[in-house]
Formats: sequence, structure tokens, C-alpha cells
Amino acid sequence: LENGLLRTPPMGWLAWERFRCNIDCDQDPKNCISEQLFMEMADRLAQDGWRDLGYVYLNIDDCWIGGRDASGRLIADPQRFPHGIAFLADYAHSLGLKLGIYEDMGKMTCMGYPGTTLDKVELDAETFAEWKVDMLKLDGCYSTDAERAEGYPKMAAALNATGRPIAFSCSWPAYEGGLPPKVNYTLMAKTCNLWRNYDDIQDSWKSVVSIVDWFVKYQDILQPAAGPGHWNDPDMLIIGNFGLSFEESRAQMALWTILAAPLFMSTDLRTISPQNMDILQNPLMIKINQDPLGIPGLRIFKSESQIEVYKRHLSNEASALVFFSRRTDMPHHFHSSLLDLKYPRSRIYEGQNVFTGDIISGLKSESSFSVVINPSGVVMWYLYPIKSQGLSSQMSRL
Ligand code: GLA
Repeated sequence: LENGLLRTPPMGWLAWERFRCNIDCDQDPKNCISEQLFMEMADRLAQDGWRDLGYVYLNIDDCWIGGRDASGRLIADPQRFPHGIAFLADYAHSLGLKLGIYEDMGKMTCMGYPGTTLDKVELDAETFAEWKVDMLKLDGCYSTDAERAEGYPKMAAALNATGRPIAFSCSWPAYEGGLPPKVNYTLMAKTCNLWRNYDDIQDSWKSVVSIVDWFVKYQDILQPAAGPGHWNDPDMLIIGNFGLSFEESRAQMALWTILAAPLFMSTDLRTISPQNMDILQNPLMIKINQDPLGIPGLRIFKSESQIEVYKRHLSNEASALVFFSRRTDMPHHFHSSLLDLKYPRSRIYEGQNVFTGDIISGLKSESSFSVVINPSGVVMWYLYPIKSQGLSSQMSRL
């Protein structure tokens, strides 16, 4: 959506995967969906280095709605959000963060709270703008194909009409099977800043792999659909929760970065381990994810030995490579050359191993190299050609 927003994939925190629809604030006051939870996460985002690395969105998901008032306006649950959403938005803004909210283009949200029906779209957009919300995730439960086809563009127009910059996250394609001809990605890019294409992520490696498999299977359709202002969303990062090993956590981070995916963490930032923080706060990883060209990567190689290579083109002729092992035996020595990985001939590359920080230097396109990839793990490289090499090849053309 060309509203000037999200020129690079959004980064932040989203409540759903970790905190779901826990509304039991009597039994579980620290973890229930409430203003206290969002204020505590806001504090962590601001104080623990997240915001300064770009993780600025604090996003509410389902189960915040209390109903509609006499004039039909949405209200937050008065027990769990006693000061209302405008107060939370102010709090987020006071810390240099942005607030995201959730609604559903249909009769009800997926958890059964009041939805945005076609006659409520404009009113709800105005309400969110008055509250100074910065992003809307519009889900698609309990709606017909026709209601979604009318409702999502209607909401895009209604948000625009408020005059407030509000990033628009659509779940629309996920409800149409994620693929053409039912999904028109040109229309998606015109209507939404990001969109969920596929199933919900769950707290397991199996779920991460199923999402990667789907995005790779249809990469020829999905890769060209995304770019500055309009992104595919393979769903939240589950790093820091219960389902992923250390290697798998690094793999999710690396693969989401290759896909130019939004980086929405959904984990408890109050208790996250230093090791998981390192994965999520890796500055070179974030620089790659946020590359200004915004071109998603592709899987470019797959071997019988269950090794895959992913490559993303970056600005200034740089690139990122991810070597991913689906093996379950032991660290695997993978041999290749940049020429084999479709880099141009007779060049020399420099760069860095994204996780270890090891410097890569003097790597010729033709030279063979090997990397050791752990089971369900990745090795990730950031590479750029040495300038003088570009110059000499230019001179040889003269
Ligand atoms: C759907 C969405 C999830 C989450 C839930 C909330 O399943 O895909 O991301 O928003 O609804 O109920």
C-alpha cells in the first residue's frame, strides 16, 4: 500500500502466539491480555535495546474488545483495559514506540469478539485514528469471500481518509488459500502494507518448517509480490518460547530475514534468555532484513543430502546467503563455490558470518569453500564484492 509506510518490513512485538486469548486476569494477572501486559512489554521494548534496533511496534491481537457503545463505537474490555486504548497509544508513543491493534473483517473475531462488519468499517477506522493507533491487523474469520473482497479495500480507503498514517496488515490472502487466481497479489500490494499468506504459526519446529516449505514451494509467485510498502508475512517469530532449539531459533531468524519478512516477536520479553536476545538483536541480521531495496530472497539450491541454500540480493551489490540443513544426524560439511551459487565470475568477495561475526575475505567466485551446518540449523553469510575488482572489470571492458 503506497501510504508512505513500511518501506522496510515492520519490526516489533505481537501478543498472539505467546499470550493467545488468555483473559483470566484473576488466576494469571501477569500474563492475561490486559493493559498491564502491553505496558510491561512496552517498557521492555524501550529499555532492553529492542526499540533502538528497530523493534518499535507494540501490537495488540485478539481478545481486547469489550463491545460497542450506544453509538456503535468499539470499546476495550473495561476490566482488562481500564484506561482504554488511547491511553496505551499515548504510553507507547511516550516511549518512542508505535501501537498496533486488531480487528476482524467479519461478524466476529476468530475468538468471538465483535467484528467489523461492512457498515462499521468507516466508524472503526475513525475510532482507531482517534485513539492514535499506528497499525491495524484486520483478520478474516466469520466472513464470506464477497465480504472480504469488499471489506479490505474499503478499510484501506477508510484508514487513508482518517488522515492518520496507519499501517494496514491484512489476513485476506490467508483466507483465500494464499495463491492466484483467488489471490491477486497486485491488488494486495495496492490495498495492504503486509499480508498473511498462510497458516498460523504455532510453537513448534514442525510449524516453522511447514511455513518455510509453503513459501519455498510458491516462491516464484510470492517473491515478486513483496517490496517496499507491501510485504508477505509468514507470521510471528516464536524465538524465546518453548518449541525451538537454539539451532532452530537461529534458523527461523535467518530464513525470515531472507524472506524479507516482518519481524514480529511473540515472546515474553520479561524473561527472554540472553542467548535468544542475541539471536533477535543481531545488528547485521537486522541490517539485512531491513535492506532498503526490499527484495525477498529465494531458495537457489537443494541437495539430496538435505542441504538448501537461500540467497537474497541486497543494496550496493551485497547479498546474504543462508545454508540450511534439514538433516537430523550431525553437523554436515557442505562444499560449494560462489560460482556454483550463481555469483558472477572472476570477482572477489568480502563479508561476515552473520552469527559468529567471523570475517570472510578474499573469497574468489571460483574458489571452493566449505561450511559446517548443524542439524536443523543454519550458517548465514553477508557478502559484498571488493570495489577494486569492480573497477578492474570495468577497465577491462574499456
Ligand atoms: C487468527 C490469526 C491469528 C490470530 C488469531 C486471533 O487465527 O491468523 O494470527 O490473530 O486469529 O484469534
